[in-house]
Order: sequence, then C-alpha cells, then structure tokens
Amino acid sequence: MKKRKIFIYKRFFLLERRHKSLDCKNSSRKMNDYKIKYLIIFALLFAFAESFRDPIQAISTNFEEHDKNYNLNIIKNEKKKCGSFESLNLDNMNLHILKNDIIRSDHIQHISVYNNNINNTYTILDNVPNLFCLNLSRNEINIYNGNELKHSNLKVLDLSYQKISEAKDLEDYEELNDLYKNIIFNSKNMKLPNLQYLDLSGNDISSLLWDFNISFPQLRQLDLINVKADELEPTFFSKIPTSLRALHLENNYLHNLTLQNTAEVIALYLDGNPDLKIINIASKTLKSLSLSNCPSLGHGNFDTPFLEQLDFSMNDFETVTYINFQAFRSLRILLLNYNKLQKIPLITNLQQLNELSLNFNMIKNIPSNIFSYFPSLKKLSLKGNNIEYIEKDSFLNLNNLEYLNLSENGLRRLPYNWAMSLINLQYLNVNSNQFENILDLTLNSAVISLKHLSVKDNIFTKMITTAELAYLPNSTIVYVA
Ligand SMILES: *[C@@H]1O[C@H](CO)[C@@H](O)[C@H](O)[C@H]1NC(C)=O
Ligand SMILES: *[C@@H]1O[C@H](CO)[C@@H](O)[C@H](O)[C@H]1NC(C)=O
Ligand SMILES: *[C@@H]1O[C@H](CO)[C@@H](O)[C@H](O)[C@H]1NC(C)=O
Ligand SMILES: *[C@@H]1O[C@H](CO)[C@@H](O)[C@H](O)[C@H]1NC(C)=O
Ligand SMILES: *[C@@H]1O[C@H](CO)[C@@H](O)[C@H](O)[C@H]1NC(C)=O
Ligand SMILES: *[C@@H]1O[C@H](CO)[C@@H](O)[C@H](O)[C@H]1NC(C)=O
Repeated sequence: MKKRKIFIYKRFFLLERRHKSLDCKNSSRKMNDYKIKYLIIFALLFAFAESFRDPIQAISTNFEEHDKNYNLNIIKNEKKKCGSFESLNLDNMNLHILKNDIIRSDHIQHISVYNNNINNTYTILDNVPNLFCLNLSRNEINIYNGNELKHSNLKVLDLSYQKISEAKDLEDYEELNDLYKNIIFNSKNMKLPNLQYLDLSGNDISSLLWDFNISFPQLRQLDLINVKADELEPTFFSKIPTSLRALHLENNYLHNLTLQNTAEVIALYLDGNPDLKIINIASKTLKSLSLSNCPSLGHGNFDTPFLEQLDFSMNDFETVTYINFQAFRSLRILLLNYNKLQKIPLITNLQQLNELSLNFNMIKNIPSNIFSYFPSLKKLSLKGNNIEYIEKDSFLNLNNLEYLNLSENGLRRLPYNWAMSLINLQYLNVNSNQFENILDLTLNSAVISLKHLSVKDNIFTKMITTAELAYLPNSTIVYVA
C-alpha cells in the first residue's frame, strides 16, 4: 500500500510541472492522450483538496540548483590551473629533455609537461615570450640546485612533487631535524618578475633563500602543502615578497607556530597539521584563517582584529571555551563542523558574525535564546546533529536569518511559533528528519519570506495535500525528492 502511495505522490508532482508548461506554451492542441490522462488524475486529486489556492508552483524537485546559492563555506582560493587555450600539452610522455628549439612560438600561453622525467629547466622558457603558465609538476627537477628559470611574463609555475628529493641523498643525516633544517628551495637563478602563483607542494623544503622575494617580487600565492615542514623558520615572513596574499601550509607537521609578523598575508591555510598544539598569531592583515583537521590544537593566542573567516572544523573540540573569541571582533564566518560539541557554544563577542556552521557535532537540543549573541546571523547550519527538540524561543532574535539547515537530525515536530523571529527566512532545509506530516513543521504563513523549503527523506505517512500546502506561506516552493 505504501509503495503505491509514493508512486501517486511522485506523479502528482510531475503533473504539476507539466500543467505549468502546458500553460506557458499554450499548446493544448498538441496535447496527446497521455497528457489528457494525466490531467484527469490531476483534476481528481484536486477534487480532494479543501482550500485550493493556486498551489501550482508550490512543489518542485529541482532542489540542487537553489541549494548552490546558499553555500556555507569559507572562500578557499583554488589551485590555479594552466588553461587549454593556446596551449601545449606534453603530459605523461616519458620525456627526459626539452630542447629550446622544440617549443618556439609567440602565441603559446600554457605549457604542461606534467609527469615526465625532465631534470633541467635551462631552455624551456627561451622561445615562448608570451607564456603565462608552466606546469612542471612531477618531473625530476632538483629544486635544491639552483636551476635557471627566467621569464618576464610567466604568471603561474607549478613545481610540485618532483620525483627526486634531497631527503634520499641525505639519508645518513643523524637527526631528522638537522635534515629538514638544511633543505633549501634554491631560487638563486630564478627571475620571474611577474610570477603570481608558485606551487612547491610535495617537495621536502625547510627553508627559503633570503632573497626569495627578489626572484618573485609579484608573488601573490605560495603553496607549500605537504613539504614535511615541522617549523616555520622565524625569518620566513621577511623572505617572502610583500605582494604575497595567500599562503598554503596544509598537510605538514607544524607543531608550535608563533607568528608575530605575517607580512601582508590575507589568507593562511594550516589545515591538516596533526601535530599543531600551540598557535600564536598576531596580524593586522589576516582575513581568513583555516585550521581544520588539527586535532592536537590546545592553546591559541590570536591578535587578529580584522579576521573575517575562521575554520575550526574537524578538531575534536568538545568545547571552545579556551579560545579567546574576543580577538575576532570582525569575524563573519565561523565553521565548527565535525567536532564533538554537545551544546551550541556560548560565544558572546561576535557581533558581526553572518554565518555559523555547526554541522556534524553532537548537539541534542537548542536552548531558548541561545543565538541572541549573534545579532547579524544570516546563515545557520546545524545539519547532522542529534537535535530532537527545539524550544519555542530557540531562534529568538534571529531577525536577519535567511538560511537555516536543520537536516539530518531527529526532529519530529516543531513548537508553535518557533519561527516567529525569523522574519527574513528564505531557505529552510529539514531533509532526513522524522517528520510525519508537513504540518508538524508548524510553519504558518507568518514566515512570509520563505521561498525554499526542502523536506526530502522524512517519514511522511501520506502525500502532501494542497490543504496542507495552504498553511505554508504562499510563495514557498516545497522540495520533496
Ligand atoms: C543542507 O544539508 C543538506 C544535507 O543534509 C545538504 O544536502 C544541503 O546541501 C545543505 N544545504 C546547503 C545550502 O548547504
Ligand atoms: C599540472 O598538471 C596536473 C595534472 O594534470 C594538475 O593536477 C595540476 O593542477 C596542474 N597544475 C597547474 C598549475 O595547472
Ligand atoms: C639530467 O639527466 C642526464 C641523464 O639523463 C644527466 O646526464 C644530466 O647530468 C642530468 N642533469 C642534471 C641537471 O641533473
Ligand atoms: C626583499 O626583502 C628585503 C629584506 O626584507 C627587502 O629589503 C627588499 O626590499 C625586498 N625586495 C623586494 C623586491 O621585495
Ligand atoms: C614555541 O615557540 C616559541 C617561539 O618559537 C617558543 O618561545 C616556545 O618555547 C615554544 N613552545 C614549545 C612548547 O615548544
Ligand atoms: C500571497 O500573500 C500575500 C499576503 O498574504 C498577498 O498579498 C498575495 O496576493 C498572495 N499572493 C498570491 C499569489 O496568492
């Protein structure tokens, strides 16, 4: 019996969409038998509806498209990629050498020789004056030997994951620490005055040359991901050019990080440093700091008055009481996903906070008025917790909230007037809860701003009727599958 119901239910939605397109195209002449049949079922279904008031646009299945607009994430600057326009691709060809007369073109802008066995760079750039992007990732270039790379236009250089590493030659170093103190990226013969992005990830590097900044005076992003760093040398930030804005140090072994000078860096990524215990950062330029997947994190001292985005996800936090949120008075986005929080953290100083994400913690209930410390909150995500109850006043004062994700919890019924304060709510997601009936959402038409309501994967015991839909604000689209 149940199966059949679902079947009808699905058709019902199909019908509504068809009906709409029929209206638009005014193609009643072309209407075939099959559509007529559907229209009859359609009419029958609506005959049961008690207060049928234009529900035609109330149900949809195309949810993903709307969902995208509400993404709750910090802006990670993506890895730059060589384009395919005016490009030469020689990836995976087992090349050992590139002679300068092979590539000779004023037009060429992108060269990729990814995954070959090239061991020197002397001539690659000689006859391609307009080159923009060079991908030398996974070759055999010895980055410790002072390779020559000179070009006046190159903007993107990928030197990541060279297949030989100094570590191999230095196997007999007694102390691993000594070893890493002496692995220097040698940029002596590199002059790339317009380079903006340099990827050195996947090579063992412990240090830069003192005149690194002179080789790359316009560098904006430097990737040192997975370089086996356990410390950041104290002079690091005086070696990098003042043009640098984004620094990637993910997946290393950093354990104690004291940064009193971060040059002009705006975005610092330290995710995946499992040994990181102590972090002290003072910076007047930093706007984005990513510290996810650093489960040893114990102490943090932050003097970052202009920080706007902070990611503390995947850190096994049971509480955040020892983090001094006073230091984050400009914070707009805070991510605390995948921790072990059992309660909504009580943080009182984030007047500017627009987005708070607490997905996949162990939160059970939402006490009254708990969010009133976040008067500017626009997006709140609580998906993947164990929330079974919310109070009538749980969301009190969230007058600016536009987006609320309560999916993947254990909610069965929401209390009367729970959404009273949410006068700007546009998006509500209660997918994968225990609602049996759409009326149990207790969303009355007071929430007139609501545009998108997603209710997939609940345990609706019967199909949604138009009578029920009539209780929703009249501009709400309900997403059901
Ligand atoms: C809300 O959570 C669901 C998963 O439960 C997810 O599919 C959806 O993308 C989330 N919405 C947004 C806008 O992040
Ligand atoms: C180099 O090529 C590899 C493999 O295609 C790719 O993953 C990487 O992003 C490329 N680097 C750049 C800067 O395009
Ligand atoms: C590159 O490899 C060739 C052998 O394939 C060798 O003769 C040459 O010395 C190497 N050059 C560098 C710079 O290591
Ligand atoms: C490089 O750094 C040194 C020392 O910090 C500084 O004196 C010099 O002006 C910098 N040069 C460039 C081109 O940034
Ligand atoms: C962490 O580093 C700072 C500065 O480099 C140093 O003063 C402090 O003693 C270090 N702490 C530990 C526990 O290693
Ligand atoms: C929706 O409701 C508002 C106010 O309740 C009303 O002004 C408007 O005409 C309604 N729109 C439709 C399409 O019923």
